[in-house]
Amino acid sequence: MSWPGTTRPVALVTGASAGLGEEFSRQLAQRGHDLVLVARDRARLEALAKELEPLGASCEVLDADLTDPAQLARVEERVRTVDVLVNNAGFGSFGSFHTLDVDVETREINLNVIALVRLTHAALDGMVDRGHGGVLNVSSLASFQPGPSNATYGATKAFVTSFTEAVHEECKGTGVAVTALCPGFTHTEFQERASVPASQVPGVMWQNPPEVVKAGLDGLAKNRAVVIPGAVNKVLGNISAITPHAITRRAGAVVLKRATH
Ligand SMILES: NC(=O)c1ccc[n+]([C@@H]2O[C@H](COP(=O)([O-])OP(=O)(O)OC[C@H]3O[C@@H](n4cnc5c(N)ncnc54)[C@H](OP(=O)(O)O)[C@@H]3O)[C@@H](O)[C@H]2O)c1
Repeated sequence: MSWPGTTRPVALVTGASAGLGEEFSRQLAQRGHDLVLVARDRARLEALAKELEPLGASCEVLDADLTDPAQLARVEERVRTVDVLVNNAGFGSFGSFHTLDVDVETREINLNVIALVRLTHAALDGMVDRGHGGVLNVSSLASFQPGPSNATYGATKAFVTSFTEAVHEECKGTGVAVTALCPGFTHTEFQERASVPASQVPGVMWQNPPEVVKAGLDGLAKNRAVVIPGAVNKVLGNISAITPHAITRRAGAVVLKRATH
């Protein structure tokens, strides 16, 4: 995205140390942005900064655990003046809810929802005043139906899609684009970190970060409310959106049972 009077717009990407966030940073650098790279692993962020600087991008490394209120507050301060915010950091957990560690579930809500809401709020004020900017919130295909064995994650992403669609509508006419990106299975570190048994998922359902990120950034440039990357995901997302939850949640439970037994 570019705006009159802005030579190299600045984009802040959360979760930039791996997976989709690393690729967002790369493609934003290629599209002429300077970057603020946010995640916990400073060494990985510094390595990415070294990779991106030859592309002409000036990179600032901001290591922060976004589930820690004091560290999140530092990122909120920094995001007030950026042109683009990509709320990408997130993680999932897998298993019957009552068997999972409630502190991890709470951290998941803090990262996927609370940090995203606070950063969006901090960024939007200045963007609306300046009359330009973009917020891309990374949600999930999991946001369209309840997810048995994935209950907290699906609920956090349902929040992200609903919240983003509403704010998208509020920002119409301000010059600020607000978009939810809803990927399906994508090859990153996500499945391993979430202990998701993904080996049974058919190959046709997988995407790679470059195509997912390109769809997200193109959608933000066009101020789409929701972007579902990939033809298979689009079909699944549209079916989920029009099918009663009583059916999708049961189907989800059956598919997961088959995949894990
Ligand atoms: N991959 C998929 O299949 C898939 C599908 C749909 C949606 N998504 C969504 O895509 C987004 C990116 O996930 P990914 O697939 O790229 O996963 P990933 O490879 O595991 O990357 C997650 C990123 O989030 C950062 N992060 C985790 N906890 C953090 C914390 N407390 N504070 C700050 N940063 C933190 C990680 O960095 P550090 O460990 O260095 O902090 C890492 O950079 C997530 O929101 C995820 O829900 C992924």
